[in-house]
Amino acid sequence: MAFPAGFGWGAATAAYQVEGGWNADGKGLSVWDTFTHQGGERVFKNQTGDVACGSYTLWEEDLKCIKQLGLTHYRFSLSWSRLLPDGTTGFINQKGIDYYNKIIDDLLANGIIPIVTLYHFDLPQALEDQGGWLSEAIIDSFDRYAQFCFSTFGDRVKQWITINEPNIFSLLTYDIGVFPPCMPHIGTGGYQAAHNLIKAHARSWHSYDSLFRKEQKGMVSITIFGGWVEPADPDSLADREAAQRAIAFLVDFFAKPIFIDGDYPEVVKSQVASMSKKQGYPSSRLPEFTEEEKKMIKGTADFFAVHYYTTRLVKHQENKKAELGVFFDAEIELSTHPSWKNMKWVYVVPWGIRKLLKYIADMYNNPVIYITENGFPQGDPATLDDTQRWEYFKQTFQEVFKAIQLDKVNLKVYCTWSLLDNFEWTDGYSLRFGLFHVDFEDPARPRVPYKSAKEYAKIIRNNGLEGDL
Ligand code: GAL
Repeated sequence: MAFPAGFGWGAATAAYQVEGGWNADGKGLSVWDTFTHQGGERVFKNQTGDVACGSYTLWEEDLKCIKQLGLTHYRFSLSWSRLLPDGTTGFINQKGIDYYNKIIDDLLANGIIPIVTLYHFDLPQALEDQGGWLSEAIIDSFDRYAQFCFSTFGDRVKQWITINEPNIFSLLTYDIGVFPPCMPHIGTGGYQAAHNLIKAHARSWHSYDSLFRKEQKGMVSITIFGGWVEPADPDSLADREAAQRAIAFLVDFFAKPIFIDGDYPEVVKSQVASMSKKQGYPSSRLPEFTEEEKKMIKGTADFFAVHYYTTRLVKHQENKKAELGVFFDAEIELSTHPSWKNMKWVYVVPWGIRKLLKYIADMYNNPVIYITENGFPQGDPATLDDTQRWEYFKQTFQEVFKAIQLDKVNLKVYCTWSLLDNFEWTDGYSLRFGLFHVDFEDPARPRVPYKSAKEYAKIIRNNGLEGDL
C-alpha cells in the first residue's frame, strides 16, 4: 500500500499540553494556568501543565524524537500568553518569540515542515477577564494576535491553523462548562462562542490574505474535531436522519459557513429555532450572521483540516420536554457498539475515518484535506510494547489508504496525536496518547519510544504499509 509521492507524515502537540514553563521568562497566565491552580478535583488528581513534558526547556529532546520518526511535518501550537502576556500587542515577550523561532528554524534546518496552530484552548487570562469568547471584542484581539504571528513567523511558517477544534472547545468551555473558564450557559453559551470563533477565524484569514499572502505564500485553515456517526438502526429512517443531524451539528456547523456559503446548515438553524420557540425564547438561541458577515466568512480556508478519533451510533431521540442542550437541540442520542474496544471516550473504529474523509470530499467539493490529529490512548501506566495500539494505527492507515486509492479523497497530510505523552486536559496524565513515553515523575522527563513509534517510523520511511488491498 504505497501512499502518493510526497504524502505528509506528521505528529502533533499543543503548547499547554507539553511546554510547561507556565510562568517562565515573562509568560502571562492562560485560562488553563488559572483553572489548574484552582484545584477542586476538576482535573484528574488536580494535575497541572506547570511542567508537563518540559518542552519549553527540552525542545531539543523533542526534535530528537521528531527526527527519529522521520516526520515530514510537525504540528505544534503557539502559547498566546507566552508571546503576548496580557493577550495584546501592547507588550511583546521577546523570550517567547525566541523560543518559537528556534523550534521553527530547527525544523526547517532538518527539512521538516511546521504546521502552526495559533490557538489551542489556552486563552490569555487577561482576555478571559474581558469576556473571553462570549464577547465580540475577542474577534479584534484574535485578529491582532494572528497578524502579529504572521508577521513574526510567516517568513518561515507556510501552514497555519487559526483555531483548534472550535466545535469541541465552544461546547466544553461556555456551554457545559467543564473546560476553563468553566462557564456553563447550557444551550446558549456554546453557540455564542462558536459565532465569535467563526468570525475571528474569518477575520484573521482575510488579514493573511490581504496583508501577507502575496509575500509569504502560505495557507491558512481551522481544524475541526471530526468523528463518524452511523444510524443505530440502519433500517430506521428516523435514525438515518438523526445521523445526518449529528454530523451537521458536529462538522458542518463550522465547515459549511467557512467552506460553502457563510451560514450555518439549514437543519441546525431549524432545529435550534424550533426548540427555542418551544422553550419560550423570543428568537433562536443560535445567533444569526448578517449578510455582510456571511460574505466575510465564506471561503476562508485554504485546505480542510480535520481530526478523527472515534465513531458513535446515533438514535433519533425526540426532545419531548424541550430540554436545553446541544444534543437536545439535535434530538439525538449517542451510543456505541458492544464489539468496539475502547479506552475512555475513544472507541476504536478504524473504518470511521474513511467514511468521514469521504463525507468531506463529497460535501466540500473534494478539498485538499489534512488529518491534523488521530490517535489512541493508553492508560497509565502504559506499556512500551503497545502492540495492540499499533494494530489500531495499522488498521487506520489501511482505511486512510482506501480513502485515497478507492474513494479518490484528496488527503495530503496525516498527523498522529501525539508526539509525546502529555497533559490530557481534564484527564491529566492518566491518558497517554504519545508515540514517545514520558516519565512525569522524573525531572529530566525522559522520552522513550513506544513500539508504535518504531513502527510509524517504518511506515514513514516506506511511505506506506506492507500488503495490498
Ligand atoms: C483533541 C485535542 C487535543 C488532544 C486530543 C486527545 O480534542 O485537540 O489537544 O487532547 O483531543 O484527547
